[in-house]
Amino acid sequence: MTAKIIDGKAFAARVRGLVKDHVTRLKEDHGITPGLAVVLVGEDPASQVYVRSKGRQTVEAGMKSVEHKLDADTSEEDLLKTVQQLNDDPEIHGILVQLPLPKHLNEDLVIGSIDPAKDVDGFHISNVGLLGTGQKSMVPCTPLGCLMMLRDHHGSISGMDAVVIGRSNIVGKPMAQLLLGDSCTVTIAHSRTKDLPDVVRRADIVVAAVGRPRMVPGDWIKPGATVIDVGINRLDAPEKGEGKTRLVGDVDYESCAAVAGAITPVPGGVGPMTIACLLANTVTACCRASG
Ligand code: GUN
Repeated sequence: MTAKIIDGKAFAARVRGLVKDHVTRLKEDHGITPGLAVVLVGEDPASQVYVRSKGRQTVEAGMKSVEHKLDADTSEEDLLKTVQQLNDDPEIHGILVQLPLPKHLNEDLVIGSIDPAKDVDGFHISNVGLLGTGQKSMVPCTPLGCLMMLRDHHGSISGMDAVVIGRSNIVGKPMAQLLLGDSCTVTIAHSRTKDLPDVVRRADIVVAAVGRPRMVPGDWIKPGATVIDVGINRLDAPEKGEGKTRLVGDVDYESCAAVAGAITPVPGGVGPMTIACLLANTVTACCRASG
């Protein structure tokens, strides 16, 4: 079998188009412009790239984009003040504090200070609790993007066996909640899971979110399964003709694509969907705030 490639880049472009149409209607019919604020502390190069990309796509969708770049040694008090100002700003509907934060800052405290209604990352414990109890919440962007691709590919995923590899608060745990919400039978596997290959072999849907390059080989995949690769790993030592670094996922693409029914590539799979979902969440937050 050769897997169908799930084109996240094209799907994300469609989502961004819908977001842009929605933003136009909000402006024309209600005089409201959704606003997204991104807070970046320090100069982590990967975070800078993400933040630039978020800002550009926010503007392209017709929304207001605000960036707060704070020094790496910013105090917790100053960061909390910045978040509070954004909480109080009626032109800002979504707030994202880029993670990871420098070590001296308490991430839980900072995330907890964001108004849950503006928490477009869905990381605030109120949103985590609402998602866990099946109530209306802000849903974390990467798992939301994965779910949208799964629904688009399968129609319904009800009753399917899903294995999520990785138990992070950002991806693994919310992904499992979303799959459960769509009536999958869900297993969360992690570094201490016994017989991981056998666990993965049972799955109709595999979501790999561990951050280890090419960890999942093709012989772990049930023939015809759908493989969603959340990993974005930068490998140095490029092969001839490639740039300085090469991006690879958490699954070994060639061997998995030979067995799977469908697979997301890296790059061009989950990655573009994450920012598209961030824009969609910002419009959702704006609509809820405006009644
Ligand atoms: N760092 C890596 N991914 C994310 C994300 O989805 N949101 C935030 N705030 N930081 C991140």
